Amino acid sequence: MKIAEFQKHILSWYKTHRRDLPWRNTKDPYKILVSEVMLQQTQVSRVLPKYKEFLKAFPTLSILARARIKRVLKVWQGLGYWRRALYLKEIAKIINGGENKLFKVLFSKPEGLEKLPGIGPYTARAVACFAFGNTETFLDTNIRRVYLHFFFSNKKDVSDKEILKIAQKALSSIPSHGIKLRHPRITPREWHYALFDYGTMVLKDKKINKRSRHYNKQSAFEGSFRSFRTKLVKFLLTQKGNRAPHATVEALLKNSSYPSKEIIASLLKDRLLKETKKWYHL
Ligand code: ADE
Repeated sequence: MKIAEFQKHILSWYKTHRRDLPWRNTKDPYKILVSEVMLQQTQVSRVLPKYKEFLKAFPTLSILARARIKRVLKVWQGLGYWRRALYLKEIAKIINGGENKLFKVLFSKPEGLEKLPGIGPYTARAVACFAFGNTETFLDTNIRRVYLHFFFSNKKDVSDKEILKIAQKALSSIPSHGIKLRHPRITPREWHYALFDYGTMVLKDKKINKRSRHYNKQSAFEGSFRSFRTKLVKFLLTQKGNRAPHATVEALLKNSSYPSKEIIASLLKDRLLKETKKWYHL
């Protein structure tokens, strides 16, 4: 398929099917960062209420920098992958107060953003594009599916490098100030929204992603190592002082499919958990 034809197809669909999501109506880099970190591993429908709740509790990066970690985890509860909350908190501490100066320097260049904890190539480029109109392209699982469907229908083991070549070509025909298509005006940012929406709403067959060399199915949560980590963090959130004696924690994890020592060690390593002689605490 020709790139121009592909683009026309996606954009004419997008015109009538575009999702209006709250993080698409802001250019505040902090809000966009929060949304992208949340969307990394969580579906839009589950992110929506949490995004609002999180920004209400921590409306700016400096407020997040000063917040207590327990409170951040409490608000994060329900989203999973707790490490992401810690990363946001760490980023807030690094940038603390210097938002205006540092944002622009760090956030407009994906390479700068990637130096921050928990920020990979996808998130760095997504934030740079949505907050600053950067024109480097990026792939998430939905966008990847769109390219695999239209350009690699008979191939297997397709590398991101191959896909990105086409994606960059498609993006390069969209000027940073946008092209007139009445509403919405198609900028690099809107183009990526169109790809997300098409990938999620039209290409529902997730098997398409198996053609990717980088395919990795998210493992089931139930019974997973991660589920036992979550069990412990949730338990501590319900305890007075967010702490419990060693023996209580070990009893809680006794019947897990993994040794309690390993579960505890992995939380300690991620600094989600701290240890004193007698207690484990958040
Ligand atoms: N809009 C902006 N970022 C998004 C994402 N990561 N997934 C879906 N929609 C989005």
